[in-house]
Amino acid sequence: MRKTFRRTRGGPEHAALDGIDLDIPGGCIYGIIGRSGAGKSTLLRTINLLAAPDEGRLLIDGEAVDGGRRTELAGLRRRTGMIFQHFSLLSSKTVWQNIALPLRLAGTPAAEIDRRVAELVSLVGLAELAHAYPAGLSGGQKQRVAIARALVHDPEILLSDEATSALDPETTRSILDLIRRINRERGVTVVLITHEMSVVEAVADSVAIVEAGRIVEQGPTWRIFSDPRHPVTAELVRAARHDSRSDIEASIAHIPQLAAHRYVARFDGTTSVELAALAPDARVLTSSIRPVQGRSQGYAVFESDEGEGAVSDRAGRLGVTVEGLDPVPAAGER
Ligand SMILES: Nc1ncnc2c1ncn2[C@@H]1O[C@H](COP(=O)(O)OP(=O)(O)OP(=O)(O)O)[C@@H](O)[C@H]1O
Ligand SMILES: [Mg+2]
Repeated sequence: MRKTFRRTRGGPEHAALDGIDLDIPGGCIYGIIGRSGAGKSTLLRTINLLAAPDEGRLLIDGEAVDGGRRTELAGLRRRTGMIFQHFSLLSSKTVWQNIALPLRLAGTPAAEIDRRVAELVSLVGLAELAHAYPAGLSGGQKQRVAIARALVHDPEILLSDEATSALDPETTRSILDLIRRINRERGVTVVLITHEMSVVEAVADSVAIVEAGRIVEQGPTWRIFSDPRHPVTAELVRAARHDSRSDIEASIAHIPQLAAHRYVARFDGTTSVELAALAPDARVLTSSIRPVQGRSQGYAVFESDEGEGAVSDRAGRLGVTVEGLDPVPAAGER
């Protein structure tokens, strides 16, 4: 898929999307991550043809959708719901009226509207606030209204463009939980754009990394985290993890050293490993191991009197990588 813009009238064409080929399996949560200006929003907008590609096609369930006929475009918009960073609610209408609006515009009978809206406010946990106005709601509550509104036509696909970027971490978590519930319980395919790897890590089954209008890497979320292959991906993962060697060294610098050596063991999608299997006298200084899609990832820092050769040998047999953290001796000390 290709999409170009001219930034100035008569100016040179700039490719916002430059040969994107993306296959999003139905029923999954698919993350799209990249830096600002990478082309994420443009890519998302081609999925409901808010932006028509200059070249390339959109297929849903294997069928080409080009929006050529107005009825087809209207049908496509109903098959997709969309949410944004800034909620886009009407301030003069209540929660209930905001959610009901697309149904009213579609000429849905009043009884049907009432039934749908009642179901949706309770799905998003806002039954008690149904008659409040947006100004009286928190950011998380506003996003819940927007999610309910995006679901009024029972879409197959939910498109989310930085939906949690304006929210604090705890609210982000609760909105992501809601999105996951909608995906799992209703079978809605979710395409989720974000610039934060932590969002991808929390909910996405698979992820594509976009850079300068191209997909530079894609794969299952656990693999992207454990084995990032493109430099842009590696940078995003490191920023999310705070686990570069220097981050780790800084975090243990204040702990007095009691054994001869310090090591960091990194777990990349392995099952759990006893540190004693790496060094019988291992003493843990710090660790950060978390499950990503059910696989352990992270690191543990330990001290031991065992030499690096012995520890590395055992680590190799166990499928764990171990790095020595001992200070590199200055030239004169070697
Ligand atoms: N309507 C438009 N007219 C001209 N240029 C555009 C238009 N929409 C997007 N672009 C350009 O296309 C490129 C990709 O923009 P896009 O909004 O898709 O990026 P993004 O990855 O969503 O960035 P952000 O994280 O900042 O939202 C940018 O260089 C942008 O300037
Ligand atoms: Mg954007």
